[in-house]
Amino acid sequence: MTDKEAYERSKAFLNSDFDATIEKMHELTDLLQYHEWKYYVKNDPILSDPEYDRLYQLLKQWESRWPDQIRSDSPTQRVGSDLSSDFETVVHLSPMLSLSNSYNIEDLDDFHRQVLKALPSNADKVEYIVEPKLDGGTVVLNYENDKLVRAATRGNGIQGDDITRNIRVLKSVPLRARFSDHGLSKVEIRGEAIIPIKRFARINKERIEQDLSSFANPRNAATGGLRMKDPSETAKRGLELLVFQIAYAENSKGERALLDLLTHEKSIRLLEELGFKIAPRGVHRTDTMKELHAYCEQWEAQRVAYPYEIDGMVVKVNDLIQQAAIGATSHHPKWAIAYKFRAKQATTRLERVEFQVGKIGAITPVAKLQAVELAGVTVESASLHNEDFILERDLRIGDQVIVERAGDVIPYVLKALKDLRTGDEKKIQFPENCPACHHPLQRIEGEAAWRCVNSQCSAQILQKLIHFVSKNAMDIDGFGEKYVHIFYELGWLRSIADIYRLDFGKMAQLERFGKKSAQNLERAVSKSKQQPLYRLIHGLSIHHVGLKMSKTLSAQVNHLLDLKDWSREDLTAIREVGPIVADNVASFFNDPSNIEVLRELESLGVNLKQTREDQPIEVDADSPLANKTILFTGSLTSMTRKEAQEKAEAAGAKTVSAVSGNLDILVAGEKAGSKLRKAQQQENVQIVDEEKFLTWIQ
Ligand code: IVH
Repeated sequence: MTDKEAYERSKAFLNSDFDATIEKMHELTDLLQYHEWKYYVKNDPILSDPEYDRLYQLLKQWESRWPDQIRSDSPTQRVGSDLSSDFETVVHLSPMLSLSNSYNIEDLDDFHRQVLKALPSNADKVEYIVEPKLDGGTVVLNYENDKLVRAATRGNGIQGDDITRNIRVLKSVPLRARFSDHGLSKVEIRGEAIIPIKRFARINKERIEQDLSSFANPRNAATGGLRMKDPSETAKRGLELLVFQIAYAENSKGERALLDLLTHEKSIRLLEELGFKIAPRGVHRTDTMKELHAYCEQWEAQRVAYPYEIDGMVVKVNDLIQQAAIGATSHHPKWAIAYKFRAKQATTRLERVEFQVGKIGAITPVAKLQAVELAGVTVESASLHNEDFILERDLRIGDQVIVERAGDVIPYVLKALKDLRTGDEKKIQFPENCPACHHPLQRIEGEAAWRCVNSQCSAQILQKLIHFVSKNAMDIDGFGEKYVHIFYELGWLRSIADIYRLDFGKMAQLERFGKKSAQNLERAVSKSKQQPLYRLIHGLSIHHVGLKMSKTLSAQVNHLLDLKDWSREDLTAIREVGPIVADNVASFFNDPSNIEVLRELESLGVNLKQTREDQPIEVDADSPLANKTILFTGSLTSMTRKEAQEKAEAAGAKTVSAVSGNLDILVAGEKAGSKLRKAQQQENVQIVDEEKFLTWIQ
């Protein structure tokens, strides 16, 4: 299928050009598989998300009609709903050995000499493929007659745990791949399930916000994700599966066919062509040791820029016949080696613990470490998150601890080396009072953090100010953390309203400041007065009210102070607002000192009114289309079907593509056919013509 064909066929399905038949349902299954591959493997989608969703829903509808015809490789069959409690053990078709490791260039030269020695004497050159060594969890996939039949962990190399149900939820794993086009009927593929570093950072941030423990590194999150009992939990980890080897292949006569693939590079290209995801910039061919060395070193230098966590490079003999000739020891193949990068883990001493106060008073313990180099970066401190984190690991001052840095993620204290204790280590005392204002700390039920609840606490005020000016909130250009500290020390800033009272003339006279930077800051502060309301709401540091929730709230009010009349119940009536957020918002607006600050902000010229950016797509609740499902059939004369669907959606309707029990309105254009007939047989469908529809969207 080409992109063009896929696009045109998708449009035809979206325009309901076909009636549901089993044959069409199978065609749609193939089409959705193609779109999944374009989206999840190639990162190059052809359809918009809503269009894809509509196709997916259409397939689901058709499948509900012929449940016994649903193909196991259908994209709708990725998430199983049944729960398993344990994993079965399965035997791999080909045992998976380990890779031998090298840590320097000399080791690579030794490896090369051994390879040459194992080959017939006329071989003086060997072609190698160099790949990144992905640091996630190994997965072994089995395909039979083009279908994914099993997925397993590496286990002990001979047998692993059956994790098929979890692997099926990973969109980067094709449920069907046309190996048969290449004469292969049984294949075993190996790959690495891995979480992209950026997504990992986001998952950890969310977990900390939800008072859940954070993951030490993407590898732990990935291997844990593979072993979830509930596949929908696996799906939440955002794992991707990048394949790196065909380990076994058999033709339809049951004969071994691996060597027919000729080279490792060809087998990887074949996997890519069949829809699998491979490591970006993942296959490099070379036949000189000099280039191989340079290439490995270049990757080591750039490893932090790679989207996935890698711990080295894997060097493999390219020719599969040569691989077979070189053979293996009982532990590892002799045709491959891992070139390991410098460690990202190190052992160092936990010198002391500082307790930092966050913008809503949460106390975060931070380990101060004896400086240590980790993958090229000097590490001196690491967050210990909360009291439970310390207690679970039984960390003590003076302990030797293992720290780890994963990608651009902040360093993490894995554990204390208890065997190295001398007896002089001291328990970490969690403070009972706020380190900044000495107010007694409280631990709110269900939360991991101890909190300072004094709203006048200087440390909290400082953090709130830093948050208010930051990119995500009021986005005051050039107003960094450093300036907040300076102005706070000078006594110029005590509340967010003071930002709009700053004396820029006085600022220009400050040492190390200058007229220019004061002027720039003045301009930026002044500009921020017109920021949309949601940014101001986010800037107020209300617990659990992030950017998205701020938008939800700003869409509900004309003026920010309207919220002071909203009760907790009024707030929970908003679909996205739960009881905790409702409590936090209600108590913020019940506090007279907060209202006072908001009034000051307004009198200083800061916008408190809802703006266009705050408004959701306007839906008139009285519109006959509000919250109705609508279907267009036949041809329209005044606009295209797509335009009509957009207009209907803008008026609050949901467009669907088939007649079902949920359908409210059918717009029948010219030459309407089977759908109209079907709708006429349904009791609750309102059937209208184009003219009537036009009166609703005027
Ligand atoms: S080839 C004989 N290639 O590293 C085993 N492995 O022991 C052939 N890994 O946990 C493995 N990236 O999951 C190979 N490009 C790559 C790899 C890779 C990561 C992992 C693999 C296993 C370990 C190798």
